[in-house]
Amino acid sequence: MKITYFGHSCFGIVSKQFSLLFDPFIQYNDLAKGIDVAKIVCSHMLISHGHEDHVADAMQIAKNNDSLLISNYEIIEWFKKNGYDKGHGMNLGGKYRFEFGTVKYVNAIHSSVLPDGTYGGNPGGFCLNFDEKKFYYAGDTALYSDMKLIAELEQPEFAFLPIGDNFTMGVDDAIIAAKYLNCSKIIGMHYDTFPPIKINQQEAIEKFKTAGKELILINIGSSIEL
Ligand code: NI
Ligand code: MN
Repeated sequence: MKITYFGHSCFGIVSKQFSLLFDPFIQYNDLAKGIDVAKIVCSHMLISHGHEDHVADAMQIAKNNDSLLISNYEIIEWFKKNGYDKGHGMNLGGKYRFEFGTVKYVNAIHSSVLPDGTYGGNPGGFCLNFDEKKFYYAGDTALYSDMKLIAELEQPEFAFLPIGDNFTMGVDDAIIAAKYLNCSKIIGMHYDTFPPIKINQQEAIEKFKTAGKELILINIGSSIEL
């Protein structure tokens, strides 16, 4: 399957039939100026929590594509109140089988409020089984030891983890998360977008390598196959 990075925590993951998009924050991201939001294809959009740097472009892209939104109950209700009612609300610990595969909404240690101040429910991450691959998209979170439960119950083959520190875990904690998750491949996210989360990319890659893990940092606008 093809994974495209649109900057910050936004990724598009495409199979033959379906196109998933995670946490769109593109037009207000100075690092993602080259991305044309109107060209993004998205059958299903997954939103980890309500913060602006995860939902800013959600409404526009969803409307363009008639996408099904998948998030927690409160965020789906907020989109309904704002005129977009094609959503599927979940809550922590719940798994659901969609036409593209299964999604489990799992804990994230963070906060969640929508851009207009509306309560955004509990922040989360997603464990997916999509296109015959199992993976974990952490959203914004601190390191927590229950990631071992994700390894035990969901067995992700790779994971998307925040590495920018300050608002989420940083590189050192993400390496521990990779160990807890029993994942050797980590795709980094939530780094460099704002001054407090700027990282030294080469040093981060080296630190993961020393720990026997691979940190994949995709250039914005580029894709990888996994
Ligand atoms: Ni956040
Ligand atoms: Mn964030």
